[in-house]
Amino acid sequence: MTIKTLPWLDRTGRLSWLKLVTFVLLFVPGLWIALQLDLGWLQPKPVTEAIHQSGTWAVRFLLISLAITPLRRLAQWNKLIAIRRMLGLAVLAYAALHFTLYIVDQNYDLVHVATEIVLRFYLTIGFVALVGFMILGATSTDGMIRRIGAKRWNRLHQIVYLLGVLGLLHFFLQAKLNITQPVLMAGLFLLLMGYRLLQKRGWADHVVALLALAVGAAFGTAVLEAAWYQIVNNRPFNLVLSANLDFDSPLRSSWWILAVGLVVVLVRVTRPLWVKYTSGAKQPSRREPRATVARSI
Ligand code: HEM
Repeated sequence: MTIKTLPWLDRTGRLSWLKLVTFVLLFVPGLWIALQLDLGWLQPKPVTEAIHQSGTWAVRFLLISLAITPLRRLAQWNKLIAIRRMLGLAVLAYAALHFTLYIVDQNYDLVHVATEIVLRFYLTIGFVALVGFMILGATSTDGMIRRIGAKRWNRLHQIVYLLGVLGLLHFFLQAKLNITQPVLMAGLFLLLMGYRLLQKRGWADHVVALLALAVGAAFGTAVLEAAWYQIVNNRPFNLVLSANLDFDSPLRSSWWILAVGLVVVLVRVTRPLWVKYTSGAKQPSRREPRATVARSI
């Protein structure tokens, strides 16, 4: 590793506070899991609980890394691109930790682990997603980007969306009765994918389109939840859907997705007031190839 490739330095070899803070924060969940294990706070099944926490963080970091592009464009904060690769590698690291803990939980019996992965559909999906993240991680060095070429690299890295779907499906399938967390994550994923659709059509900067996205993603989340309960638990679709309008019980995921969508609208609407305090850099062009962006990290 040359000095310029240290994770907290920018391309010119100067300290980047944004990269340094992100780098440090990425270790916090892992250290927290280790500390809880050490102090015996994860009883009665410490390794199982650690598997759950590491898997949840893999999905969280995936969503955060997918949020970088929308945030960068909406807030016109170009420097955010500098932390995207780090976040992507964090997804891989937490998914790998998750898998390693699973092997520990199975008493290091690799034949049993392999058999379980083949026989249990939710584990097969998780395994495919992990392999996918490993491919993305291995092809994310400057050298690999150059070797593959910007166009092919961009095309290859589109599989992150598919890996997101697989990761979420794995999350849903293992959740059994309470699917609140996976529904919430799936709603955020819908919001992020919807933003990319708007971007493709050139509407991503329009307030009305962003408002429609917030409402659409919230409705999509409610429909997804109701459909899951109908298919997996045989609960009436309409009943679960209408529960979104029952304000006596805790707010359902769809309302949280609407709230996040409205914050996005707020960021866009108030942008002229504060944009001069962020990077001050120009809005990135819609056609900017991702590999060029990655090289500028
Ligand atoms: C070989 C790969 C994988 C294996 C063997 C595996 C295994 C597991 C196991 C055993 C559980 C707990 C199930 C239970 O307690 O009933 C779990 C949960 C979970 N996994 Fe995986 N997983 C893999 C890959 C992944 C990947 C790539 C992701 C994320 C992108 C992921 C995210 C999750 C999440 C979010 C949970 C639920 C956590 C919670 O309940 O809070 N897993 N996984």
